[in-house]
Amino acid sequence: MKILIAGSGAGAQALAWKLLQDPAVEKVWLAPGNPATSCAPGMENIPVSSGDVEGLARAALELKADFTLITPTQTLAAGVADYFKSRGLPIIAPTREASRLEWSKGFSKKFMKKYQIPTPYSAICESQEQAQKFADTLPLPVVIKADGMVHGGTGVVIAQDRQHVKNTLEEFFTRNVGPMLVEEFIEGEEVSYTILFDGKNYLPLAESRDYKKLLDGDKGPNTGGMGAYSPVLSSAQHEAIITQIVEPCLAALNSEGIEYIGFLYFGVMIDKKGMPSLLEINCRLGNPEVFTILERLESPLHELFILTLQKGYFRRHTRTRFTCFDHSYLHR
Ligand code: GLY
Repeated sequence: MKILIAGSGAGAQALAWKLLQDPAVEKVWLAPGNPATSCAPGMENIPVSSGDVEGLARAALELKADFTLITPTQTLAAGVADYFKSRGLPIIAPTREASRLEWSKGFSKKFMKKYQIPTPYSAICESQEQAQKFADTLPLPVVIKADGMVHGGTGVVIAQDRQHVKNTLEEFFTRNVGPMLVEEFIEGEEVSYTILFDGKNYLPLAESRDYKKLLDGDKGPNTGGMGAYSPVLSSAQHEAIITQIVEPCLAALNSEGIEYIGFLYFGVMIDKKGMPSLLEINCRLGNPEVFTILERLESPLHELFILTLQKGYFRRHTRTRFTCFDHSYLHR
């Protein structure tokens, strides 16, 4: 089996590493890959940018890749899945429309609110004045997120005092990054819960928790994640996330007529009463969560992707519309 992965980060490298652990996988190309993947056995970098949708499709066709995986959100937002599908090329990735759940925080929030999925109280603000006014109604700290993708940062700030709120809003609106999401802060245990979804049924992967803050003692600003550990959930917490977050989101996708194939990452906060709230949705494996997920996965990874493309296996195990396929044997 030969697989193409778009990406150059450690997440793409980790996927390639895990795939190659099974003898059935003979080759993984990375577009464009990184220096480490250029010399790892079984891996080969190709000179195609991860954002070059047409170049990726051409490479998948010429190299006869059995399927393609995408790691950067920007490539999903560029419509890579739509393009591959229009050419009959197998890909495990959501469409541009579906991946708005990640690349537009405003879209994602409206989706959660429409379907009453528990999520922190918030407002999408078009102007600095509107954002400031809403932020003033919230207790500290206040969470401020850019609606769209922000280059050179995560686009998420947890402002600890009123001056910090003011400065953050001023900075974001001056940079003209678009609307801002201003949100209440929920204290609790954060968990990254990822599933692999074939459009009908899903497979929960190992949950994990990433360290988000820079600097010792959590003194620095939020990052995309500095490291992660797993497992982190009790059975009751698993159940709460499945019933209150995951399944309602999948049902909502279905109601919206949004076809979805690929990874879905739920960034969840479990409050002091044990209630989960959905902070964000990502349409990919998280980084660094990917390392804990793949480290704990015992099943051959390529088989999960083949089953996702075939949709058959998950379906045979369907008990309800969105079956939670038993994943206990998958992880150590
Ligand atoms: N660690 C969070 C993310 O990948 O977005």
